[in-house]
Amino acid sequence: MPTRRRDRRNQPGGPSPSDRKPTSRSAASSKLNDHPLLSPALVLVVLAIVTIAAVLLVVYRGYQTGPGDSSPPALSVYERGLVKPNVAFQEILAENSRFSKNRSRRHFENPVLAYITPWNSRGYEMAKLFGPKLTHLSPVWYDLKSEGKKLVLEGRHNVDREWILELQTNAHSRVLPRIVLEAFPSDLLLKKKQWSKAIDIIIKECKEMGYDGIVLESWSRWAAYGILQDPDLRSMALNFIKQLGQALHSLTSMENVDHHLELIYVIPAPRSQKLSEYDFGMQDLQQLSDFVDGFSLMTYDFSGPQNPGPNAPLNWIRSSLSLLLGANGAAAHSHGHKIFLGLNFYGNDFLISEGSGGGAITGKDYTALLEKHRPVLRWDNTSAEHYFVYTHNNARHAVFYPSLMSLSLRLDEARAWGAGLSIWEIGQGLDYFFDLL
Ligand SMILES: *[C@@H]1O[C@H](CO)[C@@H](O)[C@H](O)[C@H]1NC(C)=O
Ligand SMILES: *[C@@H]1O[C@H](CO)[C@@H](O)[C@H](O)[C@H]1NC(C)=O
Repeated sequence: MPTRRRDRRNQPGGPSPSDRKPTSRSAASSKLNDHPLLSPALVLVVLAIVTIAAVLLVVYRGYQTGPGDSSPPALSVYERGLVKPNVAFQEILAENSRFSKNRSRRHFENPVLAYITPWNSRGYEMAKLFGPKLTHLSPVWYDLKSEGKKLVLEGRHNVDREWILELQTNAHSRVLPRIVLEAFPSDLLLKKKQWSKAIDIIIKECKEMGYDGIVLESWSRWAAYGILQDPDLRSMALNFIKQLGQALHSLTSMENVDHHLELIYVIPAPRSQKLSEYDFGMQDLQQLSDFVDGFSLMTYDFSGPQNPGPNAPLNWIRSSLSLLLGANGAAAHSHGHKIFLGLNFYGNDFLISEGSGGGAITGKDYTALLEKHRPVLRWDNTSAEHYFVYTHNNARHAVFYPSLMSLSLRLDEARAWGAGLSIWEIGQGLDYFFDLL
């Protein structure tokens, strides 16, 4: 299949070289046979030369077209007609590692934040390969912790400075490592000194390592410690984020003096239409909006082993956006550009027959499952996700993993709100997903 495609590209619309060769040779030999001066031996020699020349020509052309089947096709997944609900597993296996030759051509014009984890080195390679499509890179490197009475920032051992510089310089991606605020919230938020200390530590690290800002994650921890349920503490927590944003905004990026350092804040997606006290809601977003550069909205993990199903149903994504931005009107959309809509590049393999179990899978696991079980892929129109079911050791499994179609509909949703994307995480996806970006 890959070989055929390569031939077609060389000979648009015409027959392939091997189709033509036999015809021309038989025409030549009949003419030679008619000539009275030529002996049968000479005819054979001439025939041999013509044949060798033809073979050499074919081989030479083959080399010109590329070293092997793994060479990237020139066209994007859209142009190749791969973005569709009816997909066979064979097509995914044949196409998933083939991506458009032009890796700087963007199909999604809003910002794209890509998470990278140190435990999956493939993410670092993907960032280098597709850097021009990724406006923000967030390596998951840091924790800000309490150690006795002190605050410590852990994670510098993860840092790869060459990689940072290469992406900032060649791809013009901004590098904003993620920091999880592990420190005891009561210490951090109630003591003014600790509060300033935390901000100083973060600023210092940005300056020393040449970051373009940070991605901060703290909400779930604050929820667990009861901070968000208390109006005074909640207000302090929001003030901490505002002050951190102001401090970052007062500095310029070392790589680009036109940019201030950025703060992107991670927020959970509301589970249901009625917000709980610990949910991040529209008022929180409006309060923080002037102080942060974006919200990384975690619209994934809707289902789990206890309630197997699609990872991020489209209708849930839509209702989450409505709850945060308001249902309609231009005013509601005025904050849309601050949202980085979460996309999962991982999937799940859930047990569905007895008990519960199973969990996350990467693209590699997914293609291995496709090869082994040769399943029929189904499109669930309600959630807008592909899935398949298989049986192993008498246990039934359901596998939900993103597809070009499911991702493409989520990109359309983001576009409709003027939002960007945040991808968890780029090392877990299939190569051809990047064509969509
Ligand atoms: C890739 O696409 C971009 C944007 O469409 C274009 O400017 C650039 O020339 C293309 N590069 C190549 C090698 O075709
Ligand atoms: C699938 O869903 C879309 C949008 O929700 C709808 O327009 C379309 O009619 C549905 N198709 C089927 C076959 O149900």
